[in-house]
Amino acid sequence: MSQHPTLAFIGAGNMARAIIGGLISNGFPAGKIRASSPTVSKLADLASLGLFVSADNNEAMQSADIVVLAVKPQMLKAVLQPLATTAAENKPLFISVAAGITSNSINQWLGGNQAIVRCMPNTPALVKMGANGLFANAQVSQAQRAQAENVLSATGLTLWVEQEDQLHAVTAVSGSGPAYYFLFMEAMITAAQKQGLTKEVATQLTLQTARGAAEMALLSDVDPAELRRRVCSPNGTTEQAVLSFQANHLDILVDNAMQACATRSIEMAKELGDD
Ligand SMILES: NC(=O)c1ccc[n+]([C@@H]2O[C@H](COP(=O)([O-])OP(=O)(O)OC[C@H]3O[C@@H](n4cnc5c(N)ncnc54)[C@H](OP(=O)(O)O)[C@@H]3O)[C@@H](O)[C@H]2O)c1
Repeated sequence: MSQHPTLAFIGAGNMARAIIGGLISNGFPAGKIRASSPTVSKLADLASLGLFVSADNNEAMQSADIVVLAVKPQMLKAVLQPLATTAAENKPLFISVAAGITSNSINQWLGGNQAIVRCMPNTPALVKMGANGLFANAQVSQAQRAQAENVLSATGLTLWVEQEDQLHAVTAVSGSGPAYYFLFMEAMITAAQKQGLTKEVATQLTLQTARGAAEMALLSDVDPAELRRRVCSPNGTTEQAVLSFQANHLDILVDNAMQACATRSIEMAKELGDD
């Protein structure tokens, strides 16, 4: 295999484009990327970047070392079954970003004995700040693990879990997590306006504070609990806010929300898969 593997994207929507954009801006050659989706006219922008594009998934997947499955979960079975013959002949590494569909279902639909990495991405992938949880089935070699990491790190952080079931927890933390922070931002912006700030000032202060807190936590050598303690002077202003959150059981609210998310993830896997 040459330095850069040949990649095929089956489905070329938001998530595929986030990965393709990250790869190209990291210097991955566009000529080694192939993409397919039913309406080829929607792929004109990708073709103009130098990608091979097709409306035929089997054609896009020809000669690919890695096939990224980036269609909606409910489409996956119908998309994969016609690819089984090519999969058996070429034996590429499959990377699925489809939420909830197990490697076992994907393997069955592809005819069996396939190397499959499942990835739970999140939407900040669109700005290269994604957090990806990855799981590899038993057929994936060490070299293929490294290849999967190379591809997905184009959108941000990559971390492996050793048990596939842990992807439900990954969904509850990072997969759905951006929405929790957006919700918290909405609440802060509304509260700041009630205290007399304009919407614009409230929004800019809230967003920069979220960015600053995340950046500080990432760069710090102490955990978020210690950082929080350090900004809470005794009987100071921040302490009053934190005591109010604690009295209203923020920890229980978060725990309940993440449990509900993981439970829905387990239900969806049952609804959409063939396990
Ligand atoms: N955790 C997260 O936050 C997160 C975020 C985003 C995505 N995801 C996962 O990423 C996957 C893709 O999501 P997305 O947001 O990128 O969806 P999307 O924007 O709707 O893209 C889906 C793509 O699949 C194409 N497609 C439809 N039928 C196809 C077929 N038969 N063969 C080949 N391609 C076909 C669509 O083409 P047309 O436009 O022509 O129909 C489109 O290009 C999903 O499985 C989702 O679970 C997870």
